[in-house]
Amino acid sequence: MTASSIAARNPGTIELTVNKPASTATPATPAAPATPALPPGPSTPRPVLLGRFILRPTSFLDDCARRYGDYFTLRLSEERTMVITSDPEAVKTVFTGDPEQMLAGKNNEILRPLLGDRSVLLLDGAAHLRQRRLMLPPFHGERMKAYGETMRAVAERHVAAWPHGPEFAAAPTMQAITLEIILRTVFGLEDPARIERVGAPLRRLLDASASQPRLLALQVTSSKNPRPRSPWGRFNALVAAADRVVYEELHERRAQPNGSGHDDILSLLLEARDEDGQPLTDLELRDELMTLLLAGHETTATALSWTLERLVRHPDVLARLLAERRGGEEAAPYMEATIKEALRLRPVVTAVGRHLTAPLEVGGHLLPAGVTINPSIYLLHRRPDLYPEPDAFRPERFLDDPPGTYQWIPFGGGVRRCLGASFALFEMKIVLGAILDQVALVPQQCEDESVTRRAITFAPKRGARIAVEPA
Ligand code: HEM
Repeated sequence: MTASSIAARNPGTIELTVNKPASTATPATPAAPATPALPPGPSTPRPVLLGRFILRPTSFLDDCARRYGDYFTLRLSEERTMVITSDPEAVKTVFTGDPEQMLAGKNNEILRPLLGDRSVLLLDGAAHLRQRRLMLPPFHGERMKAYGETMRAVAERHVAAWPHGPEFAAAPTMQAITLEIILRTVFGLEDPARIERVGAPLRRLLDASASQPRLLALQVTSSKNPRPRSPWGRFNALVAAADRVVYEELHERRAQPNGSGHDDILSLLLEARDEDGQPLTDLELRDELMTLLLAGHETTATALSWTLERLVRHPDVLARLLAERRGGEEAAPYMEATIKEALRLRPVVTAVGRHLTAPLEVGGHLLPAGVTINPSIYLLHRRPDLYPEPDAFRPERFLDDPPGTYQWIPFGGGVRRCLGASFALFEMKIVLGAILDQVALVPQQCEDESVTRRAITFAPKRGARIAVEPA
């Protein structure tokens, strides 16, 4: 029996009414049709649809949600039919469902040329679980504290170089901070010259995968036998340059004696053994390092940029944050609530996708095998029944009445939940704390920055412009 059929018979038992205002409880789910069918969606020609999806990401989703409701279908290409949903019941079904029936790896196919075949993001089933188990221990919440000092020192050095007075884009410096943090804590690099040597080709590759025209070009051209100056030819050359430095690092680290005192994530991954006593191969390590870099650097930088973009437009929130900081509370609940509210209102990864290998009954629909179900983080986080006045930036909601498990999902969920969620939240607190201690953010009375796609994230279009004064 599926979640929705149980819900339909017995609404009180599994409906997501926790923390929801009583007046807005989810209505009973209608019975699903007997044969699989897709919810309605725009019939716009595919190239136009793809263009809107990439170039006007949020207004496009808002328009579709207004027109079609909690479930709609997008046919972006011959092979890619997506059912987008903002229904918390669907979120629960996806995150608690059988991973063999809902493949996340297959849905991340677009990342294969960058991340490789052995990336945890690309794998499914037993291979995914093996790799995930090997990678989990270094990301355990408590372990993050070991990296606090490094994170703080990196942030302080970058913030010390900020100009006082003129406006500037915060996003590039957030990217520089989070990239250096990854290179130090994940790759274990310490020497600034080496950080630059390894970081430069990786940064070039990440920048290339971030730009919108290149994203479009890669989507609409073939990756098979590309000419050197074609979009794929150039992209492959950047991947090869990044691979060279990653393999050099790996070989150097393998050549060092065991227990040489490193506490970085790569050291732990080198020592990790699966149930059969097998370590990760060089190929697996290369793919996982690329994965951690892509999944961990741009995302956290973008989340920090949005937090700053929100803070300079909300002096009341900024004042309360500073008061908490001056009070020296170690737990910093308001800081945590501010970060969570920024991730709610401006989620940087805006959807998770699962490719269905069998029909799935959810929310009164019976979705056919072969399509992808995409819980939309962006649309879910803006449901007025879950978040009254959803457009308002109000960290207090996370103090007064925190949302339930399937209502706040910036890190996805289930067996695919972001491995770096604790790392990212800890890093955001440290970096934001360093900024608030070192400079005074100047409040702004200008329009909100609009949203643009950057690599796998939804980023502030103008790069989160801020101005600072001495603290
Ligand atoms: C604010 C920052 C971040 C956000 C918003 C974010 C978000 C996400 C999301 C939405 C997923 C997909 C989950 C799903 O399909 O259900 C994911 C997966 C993942 N993330 Fe993050 N992430 C962040 C930071 C990080 C960091 C810092 C790292 C590591 C250094 C990381 C490593 C990963 C990995 C390895 C996966 C794949 C997990 C799997 O497939 O089993 N992420 N992340």
